[in-house]
Amino acid sequence: MNHTLTASHQPTATAPAPRAVLFDAYGTLFDVYSVAELAEDLFPGHGQALSVLWRDKQIEYTRLVTTCNHGAHYRPFSELTRAALVYAIKKIAAHAYESSATAEFVIENEPAIEMLMAQYQHLDAFPENLSVLQQLKTMGIPTGILSNGDPAMLRAAVYSAGMDDLLGHVISVDAARKFKTHPEAYALGEQATGLPAASILFVSSNGWDALGATWYGFQTLWVNRSQLPFEELGCQPTRTGHNLTAVLDFFTA
Ligand code: LAC
Repeated sequence: MNHTLTASHQPTATAPAPRAVLFDAYGTLFDVYSVAELAEDLFPGHGQALSVLWRDKQIEYTRLVTTCNHGAHYRPFSELTRAALVYAIKKIAAHAYESSATAEFVIENEPAIEMLMAQYQHLDAFPENLSVLQQLKTMGIPTGILSNGDPAMLRAAVYSAGMDDLLGHVISVDAARKFKTHPEAYALGEQATGLPAASILFVSSNGWDALGATWYGFQTLWVNRSQLPFEELGCQPTRTGHNLTAVLDFFTA
């Protein structure tokens, strides 16, 4: 068995310690569990399936609008998130409740849509995250978010998670009008910090994002909270950890 591909994968070569740390937002800094919980309250028995399809569709839409017609169909993340939610409700809830996915069905579900969208602004931090950010601040390491989220969504989530004083940069890809994994989206991290990608640690719980950032040239940490396999495209993140405390290991050895 090849143990180097397990969740404890560590690099063989030691790169110089990063000079800044940028984090993905949703699922990495902010725990989106409460969204799935609310989905279950609103659509009993279907919350898990609905929230998984919602997330997948949300990311699929970011890729569609970034790659088609040179970005002509770009819309901010909050709009794509809403569109993805309507799709997920039409597909899962309408089928489950033996209704048809008509415009009326969507109007009937408008209060649920509003509640689920609002939940995105009231996310908690994962338990260890505030302490990790505090330790980076104490060490004088610049930190920030580099997210697909649009600025208003991110501001609300940062405030709700109690991270206002712990993040130096809140970078939204909205400035480039291209979603990750487009290189112009990742380049915003270099522009904001004034550092080359190789001097920046990019941290994400999304395998695809950790892969895109590694290909871009960042040092990367994939935070694999759910014991998932990494993407099968022949490239590994710089390191893999089980939670955000693995960030600190980049500064101790
Ligand atoms: C983000 C999503 C992809 O924050 O989690 O960019």
